[in-house]
Amino acid sequence: MIVTVTLNPAVDKTYNTDSVRLGDVNRMRSAFSVAGGKGINVAKILRQFHLPVAVMGFLGGYSGRMIEDTMSKMGAECHFTRTKKDTRTSINILGDDGYVTELLEPGPDISEKELDNFLKEFEYCLEGGELFVLSGSVPGGVPLDIYARLIRRCREEKRKVFLDTSGELLREGIKEKPYLVKPNKKELEYIAGRKLTDREDVIGEAKKLVEQGIEKVVVSLGREGLVYADRERVLFEPAKAVKAVNTVGCGDSVVASLCMSEVSGDDCQLALRKAAALAAANATTRETAMIPLNSYLDLL
Ligand SMILES: Nc1ncnc2c1ncn2[C@@H]1O[C@H](COP(=O)(O)OP(=O)(O)OP(=O)(O)O)[C@@H](O)[C@H]1O
Ligand SMILES: [Mg+2]
Repeated sequence: MIVTVTLNPAVDKTYNTDSVRLGDVNRMRSAFSVAGGKGINVAKILRQFHLPVAVMGFLGGYSGRMIEDTMSKMGAECHFTRTKKDTRTSINILGDDGYVTELLEPGPDISEKELDNFLKEFEYCLEGGELFVLSGSVPGGVPLDIYARLIRRCREEKRKVFLDTSGELLREGIKEKPYLVKPNKKELEYIAGRKLTDREDVIGEAKKLVEQGIEKVVVSLGREGLVYADRERVLFEPAKAVKAVNTVGCGDSVVASLCMSEVSGDDCQLALRKAAALAAANATTRETAMIPLNSYLDLL
């Protein structure tokens, strides 16, 4: 069982219209909502490849129920923690005039009791889970060392952790030595405390993380590709050339693919190749984390 943790999920709503006028009535031509959040995306992809998945995190209100409904229909085991406040909705308005307008809610504040309930549920999932994916940001009320705490518990119970987050959450998490981290370039720069100029620079910083005790470091460099480092080797895999329609969730696709490779025991070269193909396939469709299987196999 792979367990994905999404502490700050969202319903992602996309509108299409001609253009947005401030202070006016704006009629939308179409509206489309999907369950979103990084760990949710990873779980969606894993389910498309029929892996057993459990999903955790905070959900509240109707928007929360929509996410739970989506995930349980996809066959994921749901272990969400209920919150009094509603799960946020992120709105994306695509104008025919080329403007993209985003309306982003702050997300619900989590109470101490709710955090406590989540931690109890996490203890429960520790029994059945083998691999834990900790992804994305956290809502207010959740301490920045939350991932560090979860990683420590996973290590004590000999469970592997993949960490994909940013800023202080990443910095704190790294201290507890997750099995794998997947920063993008900006996230790695935050850890390094400086701009990284070229690939050699990126490799140098990735190696430092390995020296600190992280088994596998995968740095995603957007359209450039992927860098991999472990104790024995450093690899680079160029991104696949595709006509990108929507690159949101490419990082989540990499994480999902690395999970599948971990389970099936792929060597790191193959794991990297699969991750690049899966992320590129994700970029070819409008909807995030819905992988066109034929494109994926062609790219691979
Ligand atoms: N335009 C693209 N064409 C092909 N592959 C891409 C493209 N953009 C990203 N990828 C692939 O996806 C991988 C992950 O992308 P990226 O580095 O942008 O992740 P990220 O910044 O973590 O994204 P997010 O967190 O939004 O999912 C890249 O290493 C690359 O292999
Ligand atoms: Mg990312």
